[in-house]
Amino acid sequence: MARLLSISKAARLIGVKRKVLQKKIQDGELVTFEGMIDIDNLLQVYPQTKLYDDSMLEKVEHIMATAMRKVVSQHSSDVNTELLATRVRILNNELMQAKEIIGQYSTLIQKVESKLTQLSAENNELLQLKSWFKELLQENHAVNTKDETTSPRIKPFAANHIRLLPSTRDYFSEGNETLLESGLRAGLALNYGCSNGNCGLCKAKLLMGTVEQSRFYDYVFSEAEKQAGYLLMCSNKATSDVVLEANEADSAADIPYQEIDTRIKKMEQINPHLLILHLKTPRTQRLRFLAGQYVNLSVKGQINSDYALASCPCDDMNIQFHITKEAGNAFSQYAFYKLKHNETITIKGPQGNFLLDESASKELVFIAWDTSFSAIKSLIQHAMSLEIADKIYFYWLTSCDEVPYLDNLCRSWMDAFDNFFYQHVSPYVEHQTERKYCYTRAMEELAKQLTKDALPLADMEFYISAPEPILSDIEEFVEAHHVPRASIHLDTFLHDI
Ligand code: FES
Repeated sequence: MARLLSISKAARLIGVKRKVLQKKIQDGELVTFEGMIDIDNLLQVYPQTKLYDDSMLEKVEHIMATAMRKVVSQHSSDVNTELLATRVRILNNELMQAKEIIGQYSTLIQKVESKLTQLSAENNELLQLKSWFKELLQENHAVNTKDETTSPRIKPFAANHIRLLPSTRDYFSEGNETLLESGLRAGLALNYGCSNGNCGLCKAKLLMGTVEQSRFYDYVFSEAEKQAGYLLMCSNKATSDVVLEANEADSAADIPYQEIDTRIKKMEQINPHLLILHLKTPRTQRLRFLAGQYVNLSVKGQINSDYALASCPCDDMNIQFHITKEAGNAFSQYAFYKLKHNETITIKGPQGNFLLDESASKELVFIAWDTSFSAIKSLIQHAMSLEIADKIYFYWLTSCDEVPYLDNLCRSWMDAFDNFFYQHVSPYVEHQTERKYCYTRAMEELAKQLTKDALPLADMEFYISAPEPILSDIEEFVEAHHVPRASIHLDTFLHDI
């Protein structure tokens, strides 16, 4: 069975930067299967790697096994579906690997044949060898002319490689997923609107490969657009590897203002002061946003407040918010005492520039204070789906008497991703201590922890979400450690404590 690693894990295993492996993938030296690298292929390119002596491989296998156990135990009613899907994925990977090996052998045979032609010009024995070799190839060809990988039984499981221009971003699309769905799942900020074939915003130009219309659409293309090969990403699926010219959002200015009526899917009262609100958008009007942004939430047209988006843009129908109980905030009061399941909440926005810098290929440090974790959560999930960093560190500072409310979630990320490190930073002071001393102590503890972890701070990218005065304190600390200004990202959406 093929053993596959993500690009980040493969890079750590052999001790090179992700960029080096990405270059090798672009140059065709390394082959990817659904964004994963086969360990055997990795060893061919880096033969000096002592893989089997390395505990890292065991760790990776342990993480994969643990992740599988988690899937089974969390969704016991779906066990068969999950196992079947996993099995199909593994078979698909093996199929892709087999195709790659066949391709290599085919090239080898062509080279041998051409060498024999060259050498046999004046040598009768070699000429006979060449004829025998040719006959053998023809016999073999007759048996294998049918390419099983094009069989309709297999084809739906094959993942197709999608490349976007001009950004040169890559992702994989499988089964009946539309080009838009798989692109969003991969964390890309594609241009789109209705997801339903009406608005035309997901229009892209097919430069290479083949697609198939998978949904009816109303949008009407001009004759010139049809001739040029334009298609709707929300209504087509890939039937081969594909190159598309498509628009992607580069900044918050590229995301349109939206107004969407959503339904409450779930309300989780975490503690007396905190509510996690799960909202669901209509299928035909999803929220397009960038990780780290915020929106305005309103009920009954008047009661409203701004909240950071606490979910990943890769899931644009299921949106999460962390609502704290605030005496002077009418929306917060309504949410805690009157809000009912299935009630309509209107989302307006998004806004904000506390965004992931996808061009900075550095290790990432996220720092949050109490419930300011919501924006950080969105950024971390986005960074994970994009796989843009070799290492991600998250320090969660809390008030004197608080334990991180999603501590378990962060720990489960640590189990599942071997490049994610999480540390709760607690000031450890008496419950009765004045809050201002909590901030000071939390800052001291953060400084101690960063020193203990011996991180190369000056070469890292920082994302900090905290209210004042702790935001400025952390900023000052980071600047004092020679972190360039451009690598410090502050969430200024939060107000003073
Ligand atoms: S997103 Fe509107 S047509 Fe595709």
